[in-house]
Amino acid sequence: MKWYDEVEYIREQAMKNNEYFGSSLPMIASENVLSPLCKEMLLTDFHGRYAEGTPGNRYYEGCRFFDRVEEKAMELAKKLFRCRYADVRPTAGTTANMAVLKALIKPGEPAVVLDTANGAHISFGKWGAAGLRGIDLISFPFDDDQMNIDVDKAVKLIREVKPKLTLCGRSVFLFPSPLEEISEAAHDVGAYVVYDAAHVLGLIAGKRFQDPLREGADVMTGSTHKTLPGPQGGILLSDHTGNTDEDKRFLRRLGFGVFPGVTSSYHLHHVAAKAIAFAEHLEFGEEYAEQTIKNAKKLGQSLFERGFKVFGEKLGFTESHQILVEIGKGKGKEASKKLEEAGIITNMNMIPGDEDPLNPSGLRLGTQELTRIGMKENEMDYIAELFERVLQKKEKTSKIREIVNDMRKDFQEIHYCFKKGYRGYDYHKITN
Ligand SMILES: Cc1ncc(COP(=O)(O)O)c(C=O)c1O
Repeated sequence: MKWYDEVEYIREQAMKNNEYFGSSLPMIASENVLSPLCKEMLLTDFHGRYAEGTPGNRYYEGCRFFDRVEEKAMELAKKLFRCRYADVRPTAGTTANMAVLKALIKPGEPAVVLDTANGAHISFGKWGAAGLRGIDLISFPFDDDQMNIDVDKAVKLIREVKPKLTLCGRSVFLFPSPLEEISEAAHDVGAYVVYDAAHVLGLIAGKRFQDPLREGADVMTGSTHKTLPGPQGGILLSDHTGNTDEDKRFLRRLGFGVFPGVTSSYHLHHVAAKAIAFAEHLEFGEEYAEQTIKNAKKLGQSLFERGFKVFGEKLGFTESHQILVEIGKGKGKEASKKLEEAGIITNMNMIPGDEDPLNPSGLRLGTQELTRIGMKENEMDYIAELFERVLQKKEKTSKIREIVNDMRKDFQEIHYCFKKGYRGYDYHKITN
């Protein structure tokens, strides 16, 4: 039984991690916590099963119950995003992006995308999926003051280079992209418009950010575990009707991009949890998105009033769940380490002008998880004070850690989801 010690070791680390995050202030903008009902799906028998293909059209038998779950997940996703096509199979946001690249562009063809220093995700960079697909990458012009794509220059660029696709959507995503103008230019030159909503998916679903599928995006991809507080996973959405032969081909290519393009089996327990997350978001998403954005604006304002350089000052700091703070040349990592000592979990981030991703000058902060555990504007103001005490007044981090521990004791419950006991819901019925 000598390997059981290893098992105990692993379990202990997992339990310590639960305690660690349960007593800290989690502020990484791409993370969230699962509702009890979503979690339950992760422990079901779906976990061990395979389903390749689409409901009713499988390579394996035994999918009768899963088929219903996947159909329901697609139906709920279409309702949530007000669209006609939903593919819930991608196992991550990156996988959804890869599927789109596989479907809509060939090696050597040009795409207009954002640079990572201006907030793009690596899947659209030369080191990521776009590079893997061998795409000729052309950068969107960026306006540092507006923290956004420079729309006039972007439209001119698209008309000049006539790309195969344009890609909006970002990892640092403070303000909506000028999608209508970009879409018009892109469609005029026969380019597809792809919108990567990984970060802002839950805000879009909550009708509190832009509405990409109404603003011209042909496809929207996303992660299902950031502002959309579901299980780790991805999604691909479109409002194309499939009514014409060309449109049918377009949707078929998207589906083929997902499978067999970039998935085999696709984590059925996660699909089940996605379906529950969609239902919970249909019920609570608008309220959640609104409070998340209010909290981010308040955090930006409070940090600014305490002397921090917060981006987007003239525009109300943010329209999303994120805040970007400039810490000092190459000082982002040191700041995030200090904050973690104090129990505040953040990440260093590149800001416009940075060139070294390992030594960036900023911090990216997100309010989506703090909101999910019930925090509101007063707590944001207090957290800004803790930032000041750690990073400016240089108070002992052990002292702030104690304050954070105490603060978290009042915020242990997950909000904006169906609660245990609701209409007789009993966790153990399914998992035992
Ligand atoms: C804009 C954007 N796209 C895609 C991704 C990748 O998502 P995932 O981690 O689900 O693969 C991220 C991750 O943070 C992101 O910020």
